[in-house]
Amino acid sequence: MTSDVNLELSEIQKPIPENDQVLVKLKAAALNKRDDWISQGKYPNIKPNTVLGADGAGVIEAVGQDVAPSIIGDEVIINPNINWGDDPKVQSSSYHILGMPMNGTFAEYVVIDSDRIHAKPKYLSWAESAALPLAGLTAFRALFKQGQLKQKENVLISGVGGGVAQFAFQFAYAAGANVYVTSGNQEKLDKCISMGAKGGYSYKEEGWFKKAHQETGGFDVVIDSAGGNQLNDFIKIMKPAGRIVFYGATNGTPQKLDMFRMFWNQITLQGSTMGNDQEFKEMVSFVNDHQLKPIVDSVRPFDQIISALDDMKAGKHFGKLVVKIGQRLIS
Ligand SMILES: NC(=O)c1ccc[n+]([C@@H]2O[C@H](COP(=O)([O-])OP(=O)(O)OC[C@H]3O[C@@H](n4cnc5c(N)ncnc54)[C@H](OP(=O)(O)O)[C@@H]3O)[C@@H](O)[C@H]2O)c1
Repeated sequence: MTSDVNLELSEIQKPIPENDQVLVKLKAAALNKRDDWISQGKYPNIKPNTVLGADGAGVIEAVGQDVAPSIIGDEVIINPNINWGDDPKVQSSSYHILGMPMNGTFAEYVVIDSDRIHAKPKYLSWAESAALPLAGLTAFRALFKQGQLKQKENVLISGVGGGVAQFAFQFAYAAGANVYVTSGNQEKLDKCISMGAKGGYSYKEEGWFKKAHQETGGFDVVIDSAGGNQLNDFIKIMKPAGRIVFYGATNGTPQKLDMFRMFWNQITLQGSTMGNDQEFKEMVSFVNDHQLKPIVDSVRPFDQIISALDDMKAGKHFGKLVVKIGQRLIS
């Protein structure tokens, strides 16, 4: 295995659900950039010997004493938010995400509070179900709550090859917006155009944003996670009162910020992260209502999870990287 960090597959005790907890026997788990950041040591409060993984889908196998046993056997997905808190606008100081510091879904079993589980959308496969929670929630809040995207508005989804960006693309299209995308990869642009995007631009091409502005008339909403100096290009192509929503900063902070253009054009720059529990429910309903299927790049056996993390770093994937869990992992 070629990961540059000390990840290992090992045997641990099967967890026991207590009080209001349930034990989920996992069928599939999906990777997120967060798992990569953790495995590179670039994430806050890393606790050694933690099982990674925020996303998973499976079957309830046992429940704690405060949970009705009638739910045993239910097929579920897991809301990876832990302790969002009472304020729908912002998470509490004790907020964290499943899979660090508490044990996550890259395992045969996970124990989780019963209010974290939701019915698995019936029409989705295990892999598609596992792919949905974290990235789907992040995209949903960014687009509809923070970005206030409306039907027929122009939205630009930046870096559409990303796990969250793909949901943003699918959700925005389903909501009836005019969806445009950027990517560093022409194949990904072509794929999105074949799936309904009105146009695609390579962010690697010098001056791409001028062409985008000319062809579209500008954007009401931009959804981005790359950050860096490109932020100033977005500011140039916003319609008046446009909203730029960012949920990551993979390329760091911009060296300067075009504040003059921002205040004159009433541009909002809005940070966003995951989403509250109500938004999780709304996101799952939205997906069910539109019968959306998460885009899955590949489904691999669990013991290839470290090579899947390597592939995530390389960025060649289109869709979520998923591992299936089913057989004994270590015999
Ligand atoms: N705040 C939150 O709750 C939250 C939740 C999830 C993720 N995140 C953060 O958001 C970022 C993306 O996460 P992810 O899971 O979607 O990761 P991912 O699946 O690894 O996606 C990364 C994507 O970034 C795109 N990219 C690279 N350079 C770019 C540039 N200059 N301009 C535009 N796009 C560029 C690439 O798109 P192409 O392949 O199309 O070139 C790449 O596929 C990470 O920093 C992650 O930590 C935050």
